Formats: sequence, structure tokens, C-alpha cells
Amino acid sequence: MIGKTLKHFEIEELLGKGGMGVVYRARDTRLKRPVALKVLKSDLVSNRDRQRRFLQEARAASAVTHPGIAQIYDVDEVDDTTFIAMEFIEGETVSQLITKRELDLLGSVEIALQVAEGLSRAHEANIVHRDIKSDNIMVTRDGHAKLLDFGLAKLLDPVLEGKGEESSRELRQAETLSQTRAGTLLGTIAYMSPEQARGQKVSQTSDVFSLGIVIYEMVTGKLPFERETPLDTLHAIGFEEVRPVTLVRQNLPPELNRIISRCLRKRPKDRYPDARSLAADLKNLKRDIESGIHRSEPIIGKIGQFFESIKSSMPFGVIGIAVAVGALVVVGFLLLTEKETGPIIALAIFGFIFYRYIRNRKNRMLKRFTKEIRKFPEVQAIIVRGDQVTVVVDQAKAKLYLRVNSLVDLVNKKLYFGSNVEASVRDDLSSAEFQRMLREPRVVYVRDDVILKSDSELAKEEDTTTSAGEQ
Ligand SMILES: Nc1ncnc2c1ncn2[C@@H]1O[C@H](COP(=O)(O)OP(=O)(O)OP(=O)(O)O)[C@@H](O)[C@H]1O
Ligand SMILES: [Mg+2]
Repeated sequence: MIGKTLKHFEIEELLGKGGMGVVYRARDTRLKRPVALKVLKSDLVSNRDRQRRFLQEARAASAVTHPGIAQIYDVDEVDDTTFIAMEFIEGETVSQLITKRELDLLGSVEIALQVAEGLSRAHEANIVHRDIKSDNIMVTRDGHAKLLDFGLAKLLDPVLEGKGEESSRELRQAETLSQTRAGTLLGTIAYMSPEQARGQKVSQTSDVFSLGIVIYEMVTGKLPFERETPLDTLHAIGFEEVRPVTLVRQNLPPELNRIISRCLRKRPKDRYPDARSLAADLKNLKRDIESGIHRSEPIIGKIGQFFESIKSSMPFGVIGIAVAVGALVVVGFLLLTEKETGPIIALAIFGFIFYRYIRNRKNRMLKRFTKEIRKFPEVQAIIVRGDQVTVVVDQAKAKLYLRVNSLVDLVNKKLYFGSNVEASVRDDLSSAEFQRMLREPRVVYVRDDVILKSDSELAKEEDTTTSAGEQ
């Protein structure tokens, strides 16, 4: 296939093989951009009716755009080859990240949240994914999660037209087992919902169940229902209760266990009704983890939420808050003018302290950011220039990106006024560039083994680089 052209897609390199086909990196010669091209196994599309329904589903899925979903660009058939062209994602699958132990609690919750948000968009368009698993989620180098392969699972549905409900159920069940034996479903079976395992109708809550399994896998490294044989796995999905994540791994929040358990209820109506409501709970959990709040201290969480709701509902946002605070101070002042000056002075001092407190908030939060990020062994230095934070690393890893992104997100959310903070992770700085940055006044962290070179050493180094460049 390498070197071949399908429509205007030039196949360049093999990316991987899955149960349903082979994925290549290709080049869209019209739009001059890389794409991922999935060429489907011919036996899956040999049935015309099945192929027609797949094309229909994939075209519907291509209308759904969301940063949490790998965009489908095209689906077509050329010379009996059915393919799907989609966004090329430079990164790793969640299953690879799990194997390499690169995910921590916050990173896992962040990925789950991004996927749940993408999935909600698809659910709103009445599209059910049906094959959510850690192999079908990729994380880009800058920490964005993308759900892959929308609509593909339609290909595994048996052709049911003209069959009664009971016989179609049996047909689906038989198909599930035969596909499992044929290897098409092998990687997928441990993520199935009870209704999928039984060959019953699939709905949005089936996706919620499978996403619950992915979250379980991300935080514990284990698949809750995986057993020795496919049949045992299907039985466990249908009848066995999962071991709570909090028992599998220590120090996980009870709230996470509650969320996963609700995803993994056997009866669809006992689960989250859709991805949107799951995303809402994940968002709260993420906030609690980031700010170190436990559910046993609800009052602190409530105060935080109160400030956030003011910030988002106030006209003109932060400026609105500032004006409102100013107005309150003036009203207080007017009310007090009739009396002695003592309370007014006290109020003014309080107002001043409060103002200073809010003004220094960004610095305090950036200090906390530094404290968290410096824990990563690959971090060489952290430099803050105004609102721009640069994290210099030996090697940029997805886990660090996820943490940096979520912490910056948190800092920005909690700023009552002022401009947002931006962060970049750099593993591509030249030695001279890095050394120059180390001389800046706002270097807030440098790893012990990083050496600050003298001016003469640096000049020598630059000379060598320039003359090497000239040759
Ligand atoms: N859009 C994409 N961008 C970059 N790489 C991709 C893309 N889609 C798939 N890949 C790569 O190709 C590999 C194989 O993907 P594929 O979807 O065929 O396998 P799978 O998810 O394990 O199985 P299934 O057929 O059940 O989806 C993936 O593991 C991933 O590394
Ligand atoms: Mg896939």
C-alpha cells in the first residue's frame, strides 16, 4: 500500500494495525496536510448493506466537530478499497500511556473529562460510539485527548433488516462470539457494556459504561472485567461487581470511585444518562483534586464555586467584579459618614489589605504551580516572564503537558482580574538560548545538576555553532 494513492491521499507510512483494518499516515495532496488513513478489512465491507450503513454513520460522524474527537475528513471506496481519512494525531494512545505508567490521577481525570466532553457533542447529534477503549483514545504531545473511530463499530453489527427482535438479539450474540473468535473484537471485548455483551440494543449509556472502564484502567492499570477467556469476560461484564478502585489503589478519592461505579452499573438506567452529566461530575472532581479539597470539606468547595459563579455571571467579568467591590466600598463609606471616623479607617485598611491580597494572588498561585511542576524529574528550569511561564525539560512527556495545562487552567480560572497566564513546555532550546534564559531575573526554579556557564564559555560555544553553521 505504501506509495499508493487513494483519491487525493498519498500513502506514506504504516502507523498500526487493529481489528478492523490497517492505519497509514498519508498526505492530502490537495490541502497539503498529513492525514491518518484507515483501510478497512475487505471482509467487513463485503456485505453491501453493511457497507452502506457504515458509510452513512461515518458521514454523520464527520459532521461532529470537537477538540476531543479526531475529525473525520472523508469516507469512500476506491477500487474495492473502503477507507476513512481522518485527522492525523501526533501522540500516543491511552493504552500506550498506561503501559508506560505515564498517567497520574489528575492526568487521567483530565483525559476522561476531555473525552466525555467530545462524546457529549456526538451524543447530542445522536451518534453512539460503541467502541470506546484505551486504544481508541490518543493524547497529543501537548496533552489533548482525542477520541478515534466514530461510526466504525457499525461495521460489526449484523444485518438485521426484516428480522424480529428476538432473532436479531440471538444473531447479534452469535456474531459477538464469532467476531471474538475471529480476532476482530479481541481488544474490545473487555470494554463492552452488559447490553452489548448480550447483543441487546446499544445506547448512549453504553458509551458511558465503556468510558467508565477506561477511567478504571487509567487510574489502576487494570481492566475490571478481564478474565482468562472471552466467555468468562463477557460473563463478568454481565454479572460480576467490580472491585472498588479505592481498594485496588491507595489514596484515590472516594468521589472517583462513586463516579466510576455509577458508569459501571449493570442496568443502563442506573448509570449517568449521557456523557454530559458524567463530564459535569468529572469537572468537579478535577477541581477538587487540583485544589486539594476533599468532599469532607464541602464549605470550602462551595465558597470557591460561589466566587467562580460570580466571575462567570458578572457582566464584564472581572471588571464588573472590581466595579461592584468599589461600589460596595463607597456605599459602606456613605453609610458610615454620619458616625465617627474610626470605622471608616478600619474599613479602608481592610479594603487595602483585601486589594493587596487579591493583587498578589497570581504570584502566590504561580508559586504553587512551580512547587508542583518541579516535582517532575525531567524539569530543568522554570522561568516566569510576566504572564508567560516557560518550563524547560530534558524530554517533553504527555504527563507533564497534562499537568502543566491543568494547573495553568486552574490559575486562570481563579484569577479575579488581570490577564491570563500562558505556559509553554520547551525541550528544543539550544544550549546558548537556555543559558541566556537562566540569566533572567525571574528564574523561579533550576534543577541542581543544571550548570550556569560563564560568559566566555558561552561566547566560545556560540562561535563553534556559528562556524559549524557556516561550513
Ligand atoms: N488518527 C490517527 N492518527 C495517528 N495515529 C493513528 C490514528 N488512528 C490510529 N492510529 C494508530 O494506528 C494504530 C491502530 O489503530 P486501529 O484503530 O486500527 O487499532 P485499534 O484501535 O487497536 O483497533 P480497532 O480496529 O478496534 O479500532 C493505533 O494504535 C494508533 O497508534
Ligand atoms: Mg482504533
